[in-house]
Amino acid sequence: LARGGAEPDLVGRHVVVSAGGTREPLDPVRFLGNRSSGKQGYALARTAAARGARVTLVAANAALPDPAGVDVVRVGTALQLREAVLGAAADADAVVMAAAVADFRPAVYADGKIKKKDGQDPEPVALVRNPDVLAEVSAERAVEGQIVVGFAAETDDVLANGRAKLLRKGCDLLVVNEVGADKTFGSEENEAVILASDGTETPVPYGPKEVLADVIWDQVAPRLAPRRD
Ligand code: CTP
Ligand code: CA
Repeated sequence: LARGGAEPDLVGRHVVVSAGGTREPLDPVRFLGNRSSGKQGYALARTAAARGARVTLVAANAALPDPAGVDVVRVGTALQLREAVLGAAADADAVVMAAAVADFRPAVYADGKIKKKDGQDPEPVALVRNPDVLAEVSAERAVEGQIVVGFAAETDDVLANGRAKLLRKGCDLLVVNEVGADKTFGSEENEAVILASDGTETPVPYGPKEVLADVIWDQVAPRLAPRRD
């Protein structure tokens, strides 16, 4: 297997990467969020730029510095992330959804801070579904031959869940990793299996997120449509 590494195999390509985790506000001071650090998505953006791509990084609440030479679009919520990703995907050769997108958001946003009421338990928080951005990008394919990559963090039946998710989402590649208390979130390292819609499986041993990022681009690059220039 040829390793792309610093090969300029993404020259002339526009790639979109989403990173971080969305935050769904309850009121001006509170949100529902998740533990995604954004490190894997940022590593994907840096490695794609190093391989010659024009990169749009849609960053949700990541406390990380902007990578050099990358267009960074900062977003907060899943709905904002959807707008930014769909907009950038319009002329993209590949879209990689590394962000942890909240499945649900509070049904109502309180304009003022929610206050306690004397001696009373709180009302339950009603939630509604967020749109599935990965499924939408996969179904839409704004550019012919656009390659779409999803991520899946699973705790049980990792591969079976991953294969089912790949089919359900309609993407070309799904990067599956097992998560647990001390795995993946916030860590510098990652371990994964890359499942492809053509049936191939590429295990990636535990190692730096930069290495996994390069292996993902190694899988994306040969699947890209011939360049249009
Ligand atoms: N994703 C998305 N939009 C959502 C939820 C998820 O685009 N509303 C994307 C993520 O960026 C990721 C992939 O879908 O690339 C898989 O996310 P995951 O949470 O594992 O999938 P879900 O379909 O939400 O399944 P689950 O019920 O296991 O959370
Ligand atoms: Ca989810």
